[in-house]
Amino acid sequence: MKKEIYLTGITTTGTPHIGNFVGAIRPGIQASMDRTKDNFYFLADLHALAKAGNPDRIAKSTLEISAAWLALGLDINNAYFYRQSDIHEIPELTWILTSMTAKGLMNRAHSYKAQVQNNIESGAQDNDKGINMALYSYPILMAADILMFKSTHVPVGRDQKQHIEMTRDIAQRFNHKYGNILVVPEAVISEDTATLSGLDGRKMSKSYDNVIPLFSDEKKLKKLIMKIKTNSLEPGIPKVTHDSVLYDIYQAFSSPEETENVKNLYSQGIAWGEMKKILYECINDQLKPARENYQKLIANPKKIEDELQKGAEKAREISVPYMEEIRDAVGIRRLNLK
Ligand code: TRP
Repeated sequence: MKKEIYLTGITTTGTPHIGNFVGAIRPGIQASMDRTKDNFYFLADLHALAKAGNPDRIAKSTLEISAAWLALGLDINNAYFYRQSDIHEIPELTWILTSMTAKGLMNRAHSYKAQVQNNIESGAQDNDKGINMALYSYPILMAADILMFKSTHVPVGRDQKQHIEMTRDIAQRFNHKYGNILVVPEAVISEDTATLSGLDGRKMSKSYDNVIPLFSDEKKLKKLIMKIKTNSLEPGIPKVTHDSVLYDIYQAFSSPEETENVKNLYSQGIAWGEMKKILYECINDQLKPARENYQKLIANPKKIEDELQKGAEKAREISVPYMEEIRDAVGIRRLNLK
């Protein structure tokens, strides 16, 4: 059987937080060690542009995200780890795919439609207000990321599922027209990866400003954990774990036995302050060694850059010859002077 190829993209728009860690980084790093599969991880900095970020913010995010994955032990000998913009074949493939993607398909993208809906509801004069072409064509760039490396499996959150369906559509259309060249991938939506709650109880997300940065120093980490929302039940009054942000986060960082223990403490009426201390110790113990690695890497970006360059070189061993094949198929050819 052919080796399965897994591909994960990370948009470089923010500082990694513990929600990213639990939902994507930790399972991704685990998977990078599996030698029975090929694993691709890349920093989607071209996608970050679509969100019209501030330039320094994008560069800083690229540094922080790559440092985080490396510090936590991504197996770069086994996996491919690169920056999207270093693979020049990706924007080229994007254009080729753009040339055969129905505009109607892009009209149906949830993220685009949501923005149009926002404009309608806020009474904007133009339904497309604030929407740039990169946002509109975002799914095509994503299709190029995936198809460039013949990915068979793409682990994503529910919110990205439609993008994988569009990738399949685009690949099938291409193959129908030009022959069987692209690999039609599958989405892998894992039901059991937790979406973590943030400080205020809503989903942990940069846009809600309720995150705990993954590598906050100890003081900051403690301070943020102290801010996590609880109810007003006094110490000694039994508490339920349901809807408890502290419990939620604790569970994501602990074994089933430890979690069971804490559940008992809840029913015995543990004080919230006490529970916050337990959570802090638990997270801090786990992140401390990686935090030190992270600090060192951030102080020495050259080391990260070298890894990214090596990663790009390795990835381009695949994308360069494959792109030649694709170019030829669509009729972008050297003139044969025979
Ligand atoms: N759009 C994805 C996100 O926001 C990131 C991404 C870019 C991606 N290209 C990809 C994910 C290719 C999987 C495959 O999460």
